[in-house]
Amino acid sequence: MFSHNQAFEQIKSLLRGETDFMPCISLASAFLMQSMPDINWAGFYFVKGSELVLSSFQGKPACIRLPYGKGVCWTAVLQNQTVVVPEVEKFSGHIACDSASRSEIVIPLSFQGKVIGVLDIDSPIPRRFTSDDKIFLEKIVSLLESGCGWEKLTL
Ligand code: SME
Repeated sequence: MFSHNQAFEQIKSLLRGETDFMPCISLASAFLMQSMPDINWAGFYFVKGSELVLSSFQGKPACIRLPYGKGVCWTAVLQNQTVVVPEVEKFSGHIACDSASRSEIVIPLSFQGKVIGVLDIDSPIPRRFTSDDKIFLEKIVSLLESGCGWEKLTL
């Protein structure tokens, strides 16, 4: 059975010592996709100018560029807070990359006080994401924020 605490300890140990963002986010998307039950997409988008651009992910091929201000990912960036969408069809402006997705959670990722990207997770099940999932995923993003060499990020 999935345990948030155990999964957090595992990813912490897998990432230990790694200081480049690409292996960090690749490992994180693969780990989340393998370990969290009932999800169909896990990955990262980063801000480039007026777009969010697709980076490392697991799941079906997704939209490469998300236009400014539209969708769940941009909402998380602009509000600088986690956005949980229990039913994607009820979120005005939701961008559907995989038609199987029914619920979604997006966590903003910051570097030097500025949101530079997001972690996005989709599920084929409505109301999939709980407050424990939110806490768990925010802890993972904090871990990534703290040691993954974001000063080297260029898109
Ligand atoms: N649904 C997102 C787009 C990215 S995909 O879910 C992978 C959004 O509305 O921003």
